[in-house]
Amino acid sequence: MLEAISLSISFGKLKAVDNFSMSIERGEVRALIGPNGAGKTTMVNLVTGVLKPDAGKVIMDGYNLSKLPTHKRIKLGLARTYQIPKPYYNLTVLENMLVSSHYGAGLKGEEALSNAIESLKFVGIYSLADKLAKELNSEQQKLLDFARALATRPKYLLIDEIGAGLGVAEQEELARKIRGLGKEGYGIIYIGHLMKMVKEVSDFVTVMNEGKKIFEGTYSEAVNNEEIIKIYLGESYAKS
Ligand SMILES: Nc1ncnc2c1ncn2[C@@H]1O[C@H](COP(=O)(O)OP(=O)(O)OP(=O)(O)O)[C@@H](O)[C@H]1O
Ligand SMILES: [Mg+2]
Repeated sequence: MLEAISLSISFGKLKAVDNFSMSIERGEVRALIGPNGAGKTTMVNLVTGVLKPDAGKVIMDGYNLSKLPTHKRIKLGLARTYQIPKPYYNLTVLENMLVSSHYGAGLKGEEALSNAIESLKFVGIYSLADKLAKELNSEQQKLLDFARALATRPKYLLIDEIGAGLGVAEQEELARKIRGLGKEGYGIIYIGHLMKMVKEVSDFVTVMNEGKKIFEGTYSEAVNNEEIIKIYLGESYAKS
């Protein structure tokens, strides 16, 4: 189990994440939604050790990660994608993947290569393997980021917004793949604004607003909850 326990962080007077708790089991995909600025990405940064919380802790499979730097958390099986990906722009897609295979998954030689290729094929960007990362469009860069996270062979994966620039059919396929990863035994937190993808990815939803958890339950309970409709989904969603 991956547990974020009572995490808090303030930026000046803003409580970006405020006593927020959430946990996932391996084999479970859970969506985390909420309006812009709710604190979702900040929460990912706290869980992965990019930011240090003012209070709270992160426990993975019973092990307290709170004092570990990000690269050690990755080695232990925690991966994430970035809302704004940062590949090595002057390396090829495959070279980017090999970095994850080597340093994240600890693989060498042929094994590192086949692991990299497997993740590229899974995500559907193997045809881009020889392109430089800087030649990819923003959506392809997000898919590369997803592939890189998978190539570290994580137990838990935090996905921060992928799919936004894709067509509807591609979004559905991506969402199905993410759900499938859950069935394979990954524990996944999926952050997204596209409710179609959220619905496809997970039956369970956690809703965040102003740094706090305001709801946890099924997708259908969430989209019928008046408070959630008011603060996030809006009138247009309620009527659609
Ligand atoms: N490093 C920082 N310094 C100051 N304020 C920050 C910093 N990072 C985030 N914030 C603020 O914290 C709040 C939460 O931001 P965050 O990026 O976590 O929201 P989010 O839920 O991911 O939003 P979105 O859906 O737009 O991605 C916002 O008000 C944001 O401006
Ligand atoms: Mg965000």
